[in-house]
Amino acid sequence: MADQYAQSGEHKRPTEIPAIRWEEPPEGPVLVLLDQTRLPAEEVELVCTDASALVEAIRSLAVRGAPLLGIAGAYGVALAAVRGFEVEEAANALAGARPTAVNLALGVRRAQAAHQAALARTGDPRQAADAALAAARALHREDAAASARMAEHGLALLDELLPGGGHRILTHCNTGSLVSGGEGTAFAVALAAHRAGRLRRLWVDETRPLLQGSRLTAYEAARSGMAYTLLTDNAAGSLFAAGEVDAVLVGADRIAADGSVANKVGSYPLAVLARYHHVPFIVVAPVTTVDPDTPDGASVEVEQRPGYEVTEVTVPQVPVTGAGGGVPVAPLGTQAYNPAFDVTPPELVTAIVTEEGVVSPVTAEALAQVCGRARRA
Ligand code: MRU
Repeated sequence: MADQYAQSGEHKRPTEIPAIRWEEPPEGPVLVLLDQTRLPAEEVELVCTDASALVEAIRSLAVRGAPLLGIAGAYGVALAAVRGFEVEEAANALAGARPTAVNLALGVRRAQAAHQAALARTGDPRQAADAALAAARALHREDAAASARMAEHGLALLDELLPGGGHRILTHCNTGSLVSGGEGTAFAVALAAHRAGRLRRLWVDETRPLLQGSRLTAYEAARSGMAYTLLTDNAAGSLFAAGEVDAVLVGADRIAADGSVANKVGSYPLAVLARYHHVPFIVVAPVTTVDPDTPDGASVEVEQRPGYEVTEVTVPQVPVTGAGGGVPVAPLGTQAYNPAFDVTPPELVTAIVTEEGVVSPVTAEALAQVCGRARRA
């Protein structure tokens, strides 16, 4: 069946623009983002000269995905410090820009703590700013290293669960180098399988309403030369029923202490489908995404996004008429339910792959053990 979907695995990497980078031109330091709202049509950079521009970029999803939000938040604190803004205020605005991905506040607080400690030690704002920047750079590097280790552990797990090879993997949202200092989380595992010659097909959920799957994951898959096929989110059920999915791989925005996984809305229905069809549902996330202060799934704050993201579609080149700047696809005044995330209970998760190892079965104790190991290191 797979061959009838054969497509476009032959794209070559057009350019190599990192998702985020710190630059120091003569006019002063800036944080440069690849504007993810413009992909795949255009590769446009967004230059942030202060934390408030970064807050706006985070809210609009120009920069997004849990690990990258942490890195961006840390650089945002450094940017405020280097440019002489009030660091406390900038840190609070950045940490509160989006509520669900725990990495954002974690990255912000790490750079802020480094800034405070250096200021207390030296009394010199310049040295304090340097310390915040060093913390951001360290987080950036650590995330790249964690990504590589997750890919190794994840591929080993896939090979163990699916000994025949030729993996057909379904993924949701976007979890590659656009969300990471390295090659990402779930996507990094698929990429490792592809490089090892063991990925038969990556099924890419389009991920309504903001299309992170079709706009971003398909873009990354094409650039990597993978065999991939795009499907609407509501086509996943029939794909499972046809026996075309060997495993589901997703990332996470926050993992509660009991192993509940908050991730892009639409992940939970995939976990239910996976269980019904006896297919492993695997979550790939760094230990920084596990939040011991969130006891369970019910305690996760799920971001609610504006209704116009559902009632309108933004298409470049088409005249805009809706309140959100897009083309209406629902009658004017229609109310929309638009949670950005959903929560999958631990009993539906086959395994959580971290850089410190694989948690399976997913229990609070096993999760605490793996994360405790990381925190002691
Ligand atoms: O709203 P987004 O695009 O920031 O949501 C991103 C996701 O849900 C990702 O799956 C998650 O952050 C994991 S990325 C490694």
